[in-house]
Amino acid sequence: MHTRTFQIWRGDVHDGGLADYQVEVNEGEVVLDVIHRLQATQAPDLACRWNCKAGKCGSCSVEINGRPRLACMTRMSTFEPDATVTVTPLRSFPVIRDLVTDVSYNYTKARETPAFAPPPELAPGQYRMQQRDVQRSQEFRKCIECFLCQTVCHVVRDHDENKPAFAGPRLFIRAAELSMHPLDDRTDRAAHAAREQGIGYCNITKCCTEVCPEHIRITDNAIIPMKERVADRRYDPLVWLGRRILRRDQMVEQYVSSTAATPTGSGHWTPAPLAGAFEQALEVPPPQAAPVGPDGKLPLSETLLDRAGAASPFGDDVSFPVPAEDLRYVHPDSV
Ligand code: SF4
Ligand code: SF4
Ligand code: FES
Repeated sequence: MHTRTFQIWRGDVHDGGLADYQVEVNEGEVVLDVIHRLQATQAPDLACRWNCKAGKCGSCSVEINGRPRLACMTRMSTFEPDATVTVTPLRSFPVIRDLVTDVSYNYTKARETPAFAPPPELAPGQYRMQQRDVQRSQEFRKCIECFLCQTVCHVVRDHDENKPAFAGPRLFIRAAELSMHPLDDRTDRAAHAAREQGIGYCNITKCCTEVCPEHIRITDNAIIPMKERVADRRYDPLVWLGRRILRRDQMVEQYVSSTAATPTGSGHWTPAPLAGAFEQALEVPPPQAAPVGPDGKLPLSETLLDRAGAASPFGDDVSFPVPAEDLRYVHPDSV
């Protein structure tokens, strides 16, 4: 048993700051154990969320030495013996009190995601899937909704203004799971991810994958395949041809309906100028070649959105844990 210095953010929606504590730590303990000891001995009103203490409920998410982590899965032995351990609330969500934040943004975005849509002719119990398809979505089903990936994502971290247009990595894996589901009847998952969920804001920095306690390969297995599906729809020549055929059909429909009510004096029906309509259809520009980088690969982040993504909040030269003296936690209300 030895004594450690902890800095814990105390406060509420109006005000707050880091408070210092000297607290006993025993061998084998995790950060949540120490927070519980603090509650039992020095700070009975310290608010913190937790439930399972086994890395399975996703409740105890906080930022430890600047990195989003589960407090119940962060062993004290990972820190240098004399290092100060700093615990702050999830930065991307409004503080309720101390280490507890309001994560309702994530539930709002979850409600905006269209639910699983099985074929109407199948009743529950009649669904049949190949094992390989089950395994593909199984990775995404491991999510414990800790929202560490959501809080680390630079698109919304310190950018509340992006929240209405950006669902975040947790919801991108949900979109990918449904898009890859062989029994999902919707064909607009990729379009929804692009238009409604703002997947184009993501520039694949992989911060979300780095912090995921379930080791879900969020970027490689969910976001990039979804971006590819969006790109396919935009650049696939067959899809482009299909669009032209659809336009032609629409023109024919227009033509049929416009001629139906145009009788001539001789009792014959005079067709509207069909050639003009087809010319209009043929004016649709051909697909543009996707801009390819020097490595011959498609820079997806640049092609899917007309806004440039911001840099990773951590940069390329930051290693974890961030030293306590370098932490500059700013209360969300004060920025
Ligand atoms: S890869 Fe980066 S930008 Fe994309 S969702 Fe993950 S954290 Fe956000
Ligand atoms: S994807 Fe990973 S980091 Fe994101 S909410 Fe799920 S378990 Fe947490
Ligand atoms: S208490 Fe459940 S994940 Fe930490």
